[in-house]
Amino acid sequence: MKIFLDTADLDEIRELASWGVIDGVTTNPTLIARTGKSFKEIVDEIFKLVDGPISLEVISTDAEGMIKEARDLAKIHKNVVVKIPMTSEGLKAVKRLSKEGVKTNVTLVFSANQAILAAKAGATYVSPFIGRLDDIGNEGMKIVEEIVQIFRNYDFKTKVIVSSVRHPIHVIQAAKIGADVVTIPPAVLRKMVKHPLTDIGIERFLEDWKKVPK
Ligand code: E4P
Repeated sequence: MKIFLDTADLDEIRELASWGVIDGVTTNPTLIARTGKSFKEIVDEIFKLVDGPISLEVISTDAEGMIKEARDLAKIHKNVVVKIPMTSEGLKAVKRLSKEGVKTNVTLVFSANQAILAAKAGATYVSPFIGRLDDIGNEGMKIVEEIVQIFRNYDFKTKVIVSSVRHPIHVIQAAKIGADVVTIPPAVLRKMVKHPLTDIGIERFLEDWKKVPK
């Protein structure tokens, strides 16, 4: 399973990429806005920090606008993956872009039906938003199970990015289901590395080491 970072915070990306476990980055307009920096400033730096797929989202809501934006984004770097919202206009755009070889990530997916359509249109990735479904009382991970099974049944090449991850259990569930990618917010990745018994264990080893005759 690949691990992407779900953030546009450059300090976080710099630090967490240095752990050696990050395969890519996903951003969205909210995450970019949160940094207080310009889009160009953020994007130029991300490509220097992570050598893997970097998702950048379009703002247009009509297919022609999305296609134009996507072509411009794709020119920035070979690792660009263009995030396209899951709408009928988005599907039209994905179909055209996939023929041109532009990689796409169909975002804001909340059902297996939406994922099927995105895969049929030729999406490189689909992003089911798990946490936002959990928030409204649905079992988000259920649709990941469905999508992974359906894509396997028909050998769809579209990869599943488990998105809107809220806690480390989501990551374990995604891995057990066999999702291709999970995109993780920095705070959740930091929780994954920690275990109190590890800290206690290190403390004890260091204390005991002091007793070894020098
Ligand atoms: C995915 O690519 C999105 O950026 C992200 O996972 C959205 O998650 P949120 O529900 O925490 O905003």
